[in-house]
Parts: sequence; C-alpha cells; structure tokens
Amino acid sequence: MRFGHFDDDRREYVIDRPDTPHPWINYLGTGEFIGIISNTAAGYTFYRDARLRRLTRYRYNNVPTDEDGRFLYLRDDADGSYWSPTWRPARRPLEEYRCRHGLGYTSIASLHAGIQARITTLVPVGKTMEVWSVEVTNRRHEAAELSLFSAVEFCLWNAFDDATNFQRNLNIGEVRVSNDTIIHCTEFRERRNHVASFSCSERLAGFETQRDAFLGPYRGWSRPLAVERGTTSDAIATGGYPIAAQHVRWTLEPGETKRVYFALGYHELDKNAASGQGGRSVPDPEPIEAAVSPLLTSAGFDEALRELRAYWDRMLGTLHAATGDDDVDRMINIWNPYQCAVTYTVSRSASRYESGIGRGIGFRDANQDLLGAVHMLPQHARSRILDLASTQLISGGAYHQYQPLTKQGNDAIGSGFNDDPLWLIHATCAYLKETGDWAVLDEAAPYGDDAAGRETLYEHLLRAANYTLDRRGPHGLPLIGRADWNDCLNLNSHSSDPDEPFQTVPIEDGAIAESVLIAGLFCIAARDLADVALRRNDRAAAHRLAEADRAMRDAIRSHGWDGGWFLRAYDAAGMPVGSSTNGEGRIFIEPQGICTMAAIGLDDGRARRALDAVGEQLATEHGLLLLQPAYAGYRTNLGEISSYPPGYKENGSVFCHTNPWIVIAECLLGRGDRAWDYALRINPSHREAISEVHECEPYVYAQMIAGRDASDHGKARNSWLTGTASWAYVAMTQWILGVRPTFDGLVVDPCIPADLKTFSVVRSFRDARYEIHVSNPDGVCRGIRSIHVDGTPLTGDRLPMFGDGETHVVDVRMGRAA
Ligand code: BGC
Ligand code: NOJ
Repeated sequence: MRFGHFDDDRREYVIDRPDTPHPWINYLGTGEFIGIISNTAAGYTFYRDARLRRLTRYRYNNVPTDEDGRFLYLRDDADGSYWSPTWRPARRPLEEYRCRHGLGYTSIASLHAGIQARITTLVPVGKTMEVWSVEVTNRRHEAAELSLFSAVEFCLWNAFDDATNFQRNLNIGEVRVSNDTIIHCTEFRERRNHVASFSCSERLAGFETQRDAFLGPYRGWSRPLAVERGTTSDAIATGGYPIAAQHVRWTLEPGETKRVYFALGYHELDKNAASGQGGRSVPDPEPIEAAVSPLLTSAGFDEALRELRAYWDRMLGTLHAATGDDDVDRMINIWNPYQCAVTYTVSRSASRYESGIGRGIGFRDANQDLLGAVHMLPQHARSRILDLASTQLISGGAYHQYQPLTKQGNDAIGSGFNDDPLWLIHATCAYLKETGDWAVLDEAAPYGDDAAGRETLYEHLLRAANYTLDRRGPHGLPLIGRADWNDCLNLNSHSSDPDEPFQTVPIEDGAIAESVLIAGLFCIAARDLADVALRRNDRAAAHRLAEADRAMRDAIRSHGWDGGWFLRAYDAAGMPVGSSTNGEGRIFIEPQGICTMAAIGLDDGRARRALDAVGEQLATEHGLLLLQPAYAGYRTNLGEISSYPPGYKENGSVFCHTNPWIVIAECLLGRGDRAWDYALRINPSHREAISEVHECEPYVYAQMIAGRDASDHGKARNSWLTGTASWAYVAMTQWILGVRPTFDGLVVDPCIPADLKTFSVVRSFRDARYEIHVSNPDGVCRGIRSIHVDGTPLTGDRLPMFGDGETHVVDVRMGRAA
C-alpha cells in the first residue's frame, strides 16, 4: 500500500494523507539553520547544534505523536469553527490534503469548508531563519471572515536543560515585542548574545507570548482558547512558557487569495550596541527586523525558493545516471544524494529518532557520511576532515563524538572504539580521490587532548594507523576496545548493572577481545595510506604500512577465517564470535563485506564462499540480516547486541548500513545480478508499494528493517540519519555503475545485471564533465571490451583528467575482453 507517490520531475515526494504510518519528515536548511518538518508541519528548529541552540520545543514520546512544531489555525469568524490547514494540531477532517516534500522545502495544501490553504516552508540558502509562505484562497461563493493564528513554542536554548530543569526554567523566560516581531530573549540578560524572532508580514490583530494564555488552562495545542475565542491578550510573558503566537484577520471575497509570510529567525547581536532599558540586557530589534523583513514579501520568498532550487541543481548536477529503472534512477539522482547531504550536515544528532541532545557528530559516522557527500561539497568536506582530525587524540585514537557548536570532543562518551581512527584515513582518501587536493595533507591540526601539539593531517593519519598496530591481541588481530563499527558488540564490558549505559561501561586494561572487522578495515586503510605515502616520497612509511598490511592479511587468513566465512571476533576469553561453533550468532555480515572489500580471499575462493554463505544464511526479501541466528537472551560476554529482542537493531535486523558493503563485495566478485538484487531489496523507492509494512519514508533509507526473527519482519525504523545513505550511494554509483574516483582519476568499471543493456552516467570530476554511455551487447556483468573518449580509443579503464571545464564523451562497450 502507498501513501503517496514520487514526482520525479519536481523532485518531490507527494503524500496524499496526513495519517502516514509515522510522521514522514523532511529537512529544511543547507547550512547552519536546520528545521525538521513532518508531513503535518510538526518538528523543530535549531542553529548549528540541536542540543545547545534549540529554537523551538519538541516533545519526543508525546501523545498524540508529533504534536509540536509549526502551529497554524484558520478560524471562520462567522461561526467560530476552526481547523489546522496542516491537519495537526487541530486534526479536523480536511476535504483535500497534499504534502509535497521537496529538496529543502515542504509544501502542504488543504481544503476545509471552502477555504483552500497552501503552506510552503523553507530555510533560505545562507540565512539563519525559516520562512513560511501561507496562501489562503476563498473558494466559497460568498465572502469569508477569517482569522489566521500562527504559533511557535520556544525552547529555552539548551534542549537538555529545557527538558529537565523546571525549577529554573519556569522562571527565566523572556520575550520582547517590536512592531509585528516577537523576540525570544531568554538569558540574553546574562551570557547569551543570541535571540530568536518570529515575524509576520501582516499587521497583527493581536499576539500572545505566554503559552498558558494562548492555550488556556489544561488545554493542548489541538484546541487553544485564544483560537476558540478569536482574540488574544497581547501580554508580554516573563517566566512560564514563552511562545510567539500571532493573529491576522481578513475578509476574503469569493475567489480571493491572500498571502502572508512568517519568519522564525536566529540572530547573534552585538551586546554592546544593544539599546533600551538595562543596556546590554535588552536586544535591539532593528538588526532583527532588517534581517527578516526582505523575506516577508512574495518577491523575497519566491527568490529564496529559486535560490534553493538552484542550490540543489548544483549539488545534484555533479552526478546524474540513467539506467531505465525508476527505483534506481530516482534514488541516485535525487533522494540518495539528498539524504547523504542531510546526514552529512546533521550526523546522528536530530531526527524523529535522535533527540538532538544525545549524539552530536560521531567520529566514525561523520567520516563515512563524507563518502556520499564529498563530490557535492568538497570544500566543506575539507574543513570537516580537519575538524575531525582535531578531535583525534595523541594516541592516534579519537573522541567518539564531538559537539557541533564547539567542535570539542565529548568527554562523557570518551573514546576507545578501536575502529574510529581508521575511518579518518578512509574519508581523507575519498576526499583526495575526489579532488586531488594533496595540499590538505600538509594542513596542521591539533589533537583533542593536546591543543598545542599540532601536526599535519598526514601525521594524524599515520598515528591513526599506528593506533591499530599498537593494539593487537593474542591472534595478531586488532583489539576491539569498547566496540568497533558495531557499537553493540561490547566484548570487554561484561555489564550486569541495568543502570550502566552500554556505551560507556569502563573497559579494564588488558582486555583482549579482538575484531576481524577492524582487521579488514585496517587492510583497506593501510593500502590506501601506503599509496599516499609513496606519492609523498615517504618510502619508509609506505614500506612499514605495506608490511603491516601483509601481516594483518596473514592474521586474518590464519585466525579470522572460520572455514565457510570470515569470523567476527574473539571475545574477552579468547572464544570465537560469529563462528560455526557458536549456537547463536554463527555468522555476522560485517567481516564478509569488509574483508572482501579489502581484497582478502579474492584469489583463493574464500571471498566467494563467504558471500555465498551470506546469500544462504542472511538474505531475506527485506534485505540482508546482520547476523544469524539472533541471540535469544542477554549474554554478558557480548553486551548490548544481545540486549535487543531477536530481529531488532544489531541483534539480527537488516541493519541497512552493512548491505552496501555486501553489494560492493559482490561487485568485486563480478556478480552483478546479485549486487543489483541486494541493492534493490533495501532501496526505499523499491519498497514504496509495501509502505504499510515498511512504515518509514519511502524516499530515504532507514537504519534498520526488522529481521526474520521479529514478528514484524520488514518494518523499518530510524529513518534518515544513517550511514546507509553514503554507502548505498557509493555502492550504486562507484561499484555497480562503476564510475569511481581514484587517486589518479576517474575509472569506469561497471558490475551490472547481465540483462542491463545500456546505461549512462554524467559526472563532473576535477573540473571536467564526463558523459559516459555504457553498452552491454554481450550481456555480461563485468568486463570492458573498449572505451572511446571523444572518439579516441583508450587503453585501460582510467579516463584522462582534462580539467578543462569542458564536456567529454566516453563510450564504453562492455563484454569479454577481445
Ligand atoms: C545502538 C547503536 C548505536 C549506539 C551508539 C546503541 O544503542 O543500538 O546502533 O550505534 O547505541 O549510540
Ligand atoms: C549507529 C551508529 O551511529 C554507528 O556509529 C554504528 O556504527 C552503528 N549504529 C552500528 O552499531
């Protein structure tokens, strides 16, 4: 069952009813100001950091769900009836409803009692504000006396404090009102230099700044007293719950349309220049009004929408593919890169499942998110890499997470996830392959625990590699530390205290659990870094890395192979995990993907056997399971992984992030039919027809789909912020379609289904545009017969680097080598 459809021409997902299985959300904002918006306009906004600079309040775990956000009410002043043109919060039936989630904007249209409304919301490029255009048309045969009420509820900036510290918070709220702008200035009198504003383009009939006055006692947002009465009290709130609510009154003739604009802004003010009583403690409204007012006009708003469209044209124009398969094409061309860009910006901090106060920017997450965004945002990626390097520790390890506002590592989460540093090598090499910007390696960056000890990025990377080499266990495999990519494989924790968070249980010195995943990851990183070292003429490092790579491969071959597949780990007692000798968790997906990607077992058949085992034991119609059999109960030697009910999350769900690893691995084996099939199983567009099962948005990947052991196999959770986005994009564009950046240029090496006869990719790369047409007359999965570039035959599969700003036509003919 579908709840909407894709409109590919407009690059929108169109939702036909407000009661989707879950709120289906979109993100507004391309930079520092971010808004989350659901298909009924709920959600929240923040500036840079969803914990420290939260503008509006949102109650997770609320009932009914998704209540808070952008509040709009239309009231028929003739009879006092009212409704929400975005359906919630009033939830009166709408005769028509349609939500269009587009790239960086959302538009909701509805009809109720002959009054049509369309609300379009966006964050203009480069601005720190969210603007709403509200268009109301009278479709009745007679004039309509209407009131429009708008409201936002302010969060008192620190979202964690806002949700916990009521003895203080109920006494600190402050607002100011200037003309039609309501300014939220809580704590401006003390150490904050920022305020939020809510403005309206129309003369107000009235306003409200105290939530209780607007809603009335013991009422919710679904039936505010002010709306019921049709009047506000125009009072200035102190303490309590500051809001900004505005009242506009119109008479609309039959057929007449009115357009009104609202803007919710974030402003940093010069406190020395602040005017008014109390000097610095009162914000000056002038710069606020000056910043906002140009956007409160149709010319300003329409221009902002045009600029937003142009922004996404530029972003998505970097790569365009045509395979003839709609599910694949719309993901590659629209939704997957869009999700990559959002995930890159927000990391795992703020979504329907991430409260914005927990996880900041994760080290491994951000490095992987970069893989799917670097071609669109190379400049930003450069500074992101340097930010990440600056949260590395002098040991070569890394803070597991940092706060976006401060860019400081989070001490509460700490470090010791032993895969973390290797992802920095991976991301930096992806950046180098994309841009050829070798100079970045000479940029100096401090360490999270030694600000003075600045070293070049290159030295940071060498330390990252050494971190693994310095921490090896009894089998010569890398020590896992607190956990590796699988945060829930807590082999050294042995936690039996329910009050102890799994992610921060102290790890004893001398803990010996080892990870085959890190071993494989090391081999990938070591090969790339050795290559980098050679190009820098650092022969000694290149040699050391090559030796270490060899030793690690030997260790994997001797101790990381279980007989039919790659082993997952050794636990703290030296017992195998992910082995045929285990009753539960016999096979894990991660090492099958990562070790094959590291080219281990490609030459001796092990990789093929490992991937066959994945196909036999882990493949379901909804994707590839993380492990089998799932753990039936909690195991102290394994930790959080066994805490989940079977089939959920790390305990045997389709943990989507891992699936593209297998897709890439299948491409390395040349099995294009399987690679394509696996990619489609988790492709959200491909799953659109079973939206009642999948439940999450059909336009973005979710972190997990409930596995075979779950009663609701196929149900997705944790949509939007997942490393799946980047890896799915990399797998599809670089490995299946095979247009892959390398240190020396763009390679074309597709691995496709045998029956895909032609496809094309247009790719901008290092200041040239490549128009690549691939034909597959012999029906092979992999193999190139010939490549012509601008009509001239090419030897090998690496395209020339023109760097001339021109378009070059590349004709690729697949087939068995002549
Ligand atoms: C989740 C993991 C996540 C970890 C760290 C765990 O509860 O299952 O997917 O990586 O928390 O935030
Ligand atoms: C989600 C986390 O954000 C990521 O860092 C981790 O690798 C996966 N879960 C797997 O546990």
